[in-house]
Amino acid sequence: MKPASGFSKLSKRKKLRWVVENFFRNPEEVTRELMSFWHSSEEKQKIFDEFSENTLSNYYLPFGIAPNFIVNGKTYCVPMVIEESSVVAAASAGAKFWMTRGGFKTKIIGTTKSGQVHFMWKGDGERLKAAFLELKKQLVAGTQKITANMQKRGGGILAIRLLDKTDMEPGYYQLDGDFETCDSMGANFINSILEEWAKILGQFVATHPDFSEQGRDVSIIMSILSNYTPGCLVRSWVECPVTELGKFENSHDAQEFAEKFVLAVRIAREDVKRAVTHNKGIFNGIDAVVLATGNDFRAVESCGHAYAARDGQYRSLSQASIKNGIFRFEMDFPIAIGTVGGLTTLHPLAKRSMELLGQPNAQELMQIIVSVGLAQNFAALRSLTTTGIQHGHMKMHLMNILIHLKATDEETKAAVEYFNDNLVSFTAVREFLAETRKKQVY
Ligand code: MEV
Repeated sequence: MKPASGFSKLSKRKKLRWVVENFFRNPEEVTRELMSFWHSSEEKQKIFDEFSENTLSNYYLPFGIAPNFIVNGKTYCVPMVIEESSVVAAASAGAKFWMTRGGFKTKIIGTTKSGQVHFMWKGDGERLKAAFLELKKQLVAGTQKITANMQKRGGGILAIRLLDKTDMEPGYYQLDGDFETCDSMGANFINSILEEWAKILGQFVATHPDFSEQGRDVSIIMSILSNYTPGCLVRSWVECPVTELGKFENSHDAQEFAEKFVLAVRIAREDVKRAVTHNKGIFNGIDAVVLATGNDFRAVESCGHAYAARDGQYRSLSQASIKNGIFRFEMDFPIAIGTVGGLTTLHPLAKRSMELLGQPNAQELMQIIVSVGLAQNFAALRSLTTTGIQHGHMKMHLMNILIHLKATDEETKAAVEYFNDNLVSFTAVREFLAETRKKQVY
């Protein structure tokens, strides 16, 4: 096969032809299939094509909603984009459970983001540190054009530090910046500033009289924001008297449930194998809303996992307690998202998601998303510590099998009742239906 040279410049149809002819045994069928997912409106399709490169078609994921989310007394219908069954159902169940118990409460702990210019300085570190105040002024003044608009919105550069990293590598330093980016995620804003800082730093040492002999000794390694944003943090929690938790299937009374729940969370704090699955459940909810609102789920994921390991061990992101008869379930979660710019305003469905949520600003959206993560975690743990999750999954699986085997309404009703206490499998359902149908004949 010839290498695909100049591929990116080919038209979409030519790209598609090249791919199907080189990688598929049935090119015509594959072409038809991929084209069947093109949007009927050329204008809309163009929007999608421009999000990325070398696009051949659109990859669909379900767009669903979880109603009944009460966050700080306000009711939301939350959009979720996810391919895994039971996630939206679980989020909805978690939301509904807490709806009658005060809903989710949240607090913004911080909104600070950061970025670094990583550089090597072969000169005298002490002289560089002594000149830093002067440099800092130039870094601020020299990026005024970039920051002016953000300052008008209440954001901008919050702090600039010179970090000595020579313990890690001789001659390695960082310009470490803190930023407030208001309603935008801020990646472009921060990266533009950092690249400008890198230039200013180079000029500063090249022209400063103190560095006459060693002024050319600065070498920029890279300038980039950090997706680790522990300073951009939301706390979300639910709480109620243990007695108000109610009764649980297969579980005993509320006190027993609450104790088991707290222990399950503690296990996820101490045991890495459990912690990863526990947090995966939280991200089921978080990623789904992040995606639905056109935000960067890779950034949110990598930050959340790093935060979960902040003391050196990967732990559960959530915590639970019972104190003086009050059950409390909470989570501090670092999340940098935006409600202006980026895909949020470009993707037609992300735009609708924002409308559905009542056009929240970034802080409000952060609080909604973290609450959905907590609801998701609550629902998963509630199932795990009572009925087990297969119970719910198998209910859905049973319905799919019944549809596949063309069960009547009456047969479906009988099957649901029977499989409440019996193991669901395709064979078992087929045999159950065969038996039922036999009985009907005689
Ligand atoms: C499945 O996607 C998520 C769960 O495994 C989460 C958990 O175990 O807490 C149910």
